[in-house]
Amino acid sequence: MSLVNTKKMLEMAYKGNYAIGAFNVNNMEIIQGVVQAAEELSSPLILQASMGARKYAGETYLKKLVEAAEAQCSIPIALHLDHGESFEICKNCIDSGFTSVMIDGSSLEYEKNIELTAKVVSYAHKYSVTVEGELGSLSGVEDNVKIPQEKSFYTDPNQVQKFAKQTKVDSLAVAIGTSHGAYKFKHGQNPRLRLDILKEIQAKVPGLPIVLHGASSVIPELVDQINDCGGKIENAKGIPEEELRKAAQMAVCKINVDSDLRLAMTASIRKYFKFNPEKFDPRGYLAEARKQIKNIVKHKIQNVMGCAFKA
Ligand code: G3H
Ligand code: 13P
Ligand code: ZN
Repeated sequence: MSLVNTKKMLEMAYKGNYAIGAFNVNNMEIIQGVVQAAEELSSPLILQASMGARKYAGETYLKKLVEAAEAQCSIPIALHLDHGESFEICKNCIDSGFTSVMIDGSSLEYEKNIELTAKVVSYAHKYSVTVEGELGSLSGVEDNVKIPQEKSFYTDPNQVQKFAKQTKVDSLAVAIGTSHGAYKFKHGQNPRLRLDILKEIQAKVPGLPIVLHGASSVIPELVDQINDCGGKIENAKGIPEEELRKAAQMAVCKINVDSDLRLAMTASIRKYFKFNPEKFDPRGYLAEARKQIKNIVKHKIQNVMGCAFKA
């Protein structure tokens, strides 16, 4: 098989009331851990690369690593551009073999967002590449830019119908209470999703797959492991798994996870060094990190996305 676009997997997820996990990848061990988990659970998979990932590893390296992983397994895998900022970046990725792109026009004024998104869709669809757009604004850290909570805003359900119709996007990222990074809720704040807004959006655009960014649950055991092994991560809080499960049973068909993978990798490496201070072969700690990533992804596929055995 070769890399697939996200059209069919998102359609099936919509009909089947589950979501596909979209995992941010930055290097070989992360790709291997994620892919091994999805393969063992026969789950469709989206691997996504942010601007930071492409800068860190290089686009060609990432693409070849994903292709190598795909060649060795039997599940459908899509390679997705996460948070494409411009038409040119999306076009480059489409031309170089990405099967799905996100055009993130969420910081633009509504009509400008429509115009840019429609332009990307019309180019992408010529090559059977699927496109994710975004309406609404998430807080948190995204590609090193921090968007404060007071500058974020929920998606307006009254804007989605025209956006979907005029852009012809294949999926839509929305803001319903998630945010990027490990510090999603202030002390005392109730970690909840606005499922009422999601329901309204779904009613306006029935059949359109909805995407949740900033959807890590910031797994407390991983944070504790990091802190027990010399780290200092305070007041980190994520989206409760039950809330994500409910969203996945509604119109949410793609759930983005990056922070939980970072925590998994860091927790396992910190633990390895704490108990093996004399070791210095990178294969030792990177193998542990890969195993931890695999465990976390298996857990998410089974308990959050609900996409096990849907390949
Ligand atoms: O949406 C943000 C992702 O977590 C990517 O972050 O650009 O640091 O890789 P990054
Ligand atoms: P988290 O920071 O919650 O993992 O979100 C990642 C994301 O949305 C990537 O686009
Ligand atoms: Zn995101």
